[in-house]
Amino acid sequence: MRIERVGVIGSGLMGSGIAQVAAYHGFNVTLVDIDQARVDAAIDGIHRRLLREAERGRITTEDCEASYQRLHGVADMDTLNSMARVDAVIEAVVEDLEVKGSVFRRLGEVCTPGTLLASNTSSLPLSDLAAASKRPERVIGLHFFNPPWALKLVEIVSTASTTDETLTDAMRFCEKLGRVPVQVKDTPGFIANRLLVPFIFDAIDLLDSGVSSAEDIDNACKVGLNHTMGPLATADLIGLDTLKLIAESMFEEYGEPRFKAPTLLRRLVSLGHLGRKTGRGFFKYAE
Ligand SMILES: NC(=O)c1ccc[n+]([C@@H]2O[C@H](COP(=O)([O-])OP(=O)(O)OC[C@H]3O[C@@H](n4cnc5c(N)ncnc54)[C@H](O)[C@@H]3O)[C@@H](O)[C@H]2O)c1
Repeated sequence: MRIERVGVIGSGLMGSGIAQVAAYHGFNVTLVDIDQARVDAAIDGIHRRLLREAERGRITTEDCEASYQRLHGVADMDTLNSMARVDAVIEAVVEDLEVKGSVFRRLGEVCTPGTLLASNTSSLPLSDLAAASKRPERVIGLHFFNPPWALKLVEIVSTASTTDETLTDAMRFCEKLGRVPVQVKDTPGFIANRLLVPFIFDAIDLLDSGVSSAEDIDNACKVGLNHTMGPLATADLIGLDTLKLIAESMFEEYGEPRFKAPTLLRRLVSLGHLGRKTGRGFFKYAE
């Protein structure tokens, strides 16, 4: 099927980044969130990032402005009526099965029959979202990485009901978005988070048990293991609230202690220290 108009639901870290990638690659994008102020702030943020890319000579000024013109913000999270006019939807709301389930229920009611229905969930059962939509054959996982405009990987997640046609459409869509896809079955954490989450939790354990400082733990991974970013800075980038939600869902599914959110992570979230987005997590960030 031909995809020209894309809906992105949720304008947070991931939704706004995915909207940016889609607009830059020529798609008309409708970005949805719960209120207009949030959507407007997200579109302003995307514009600022595009302008910065143009200043650095990575994209042309024309592409920057054309991408911005292709973005439209709508605050109809309660009805999702704007999704009746798109060819593909990428859902990127908070990692909560109930919230995502109600989005997919509504998408099943409001979208035209051929619309590709994708979720950016990191760890929740895609099959539950597929069932909620009542058109499971068109539901697929498109798990983008953070930040979406810089990291090209997309994990393409199929359920037992996803059709070959849906998978082909999703692969072509990812190609047009300039992404590098890997295919994976509907399992909690897919490939990358299944490996990454226990690794981050071990780093948190090293910190909490006083074995080493946050700086030295991250430096050991950067300098000794050649990682671009240390595990604690990665946690701050993901958002500690999102990481905790991902862990809760993986722990519930696998029942293995290695996926259980460590106490220090839970305490930081309680205090509102959510990482980069609040200026403080395992590290402090300038405003
Ligand atoms: N943060 C990451 O590194 C990362 C990477 C890949 C995938 N993901 C996934 O992307 C999704 C979004 O994560 P994020 O990091 O962008 O989170 P975020 O907190 O930055 O954004 C979440 C968005 O959901 C909206 N939202 C919150 N509560 C809502 C509700 N009750 N109803 C409807 N919308 C609501 C918020 O307004 C916000 O715009 C999650 O499924 C997450 O697992 C996150």
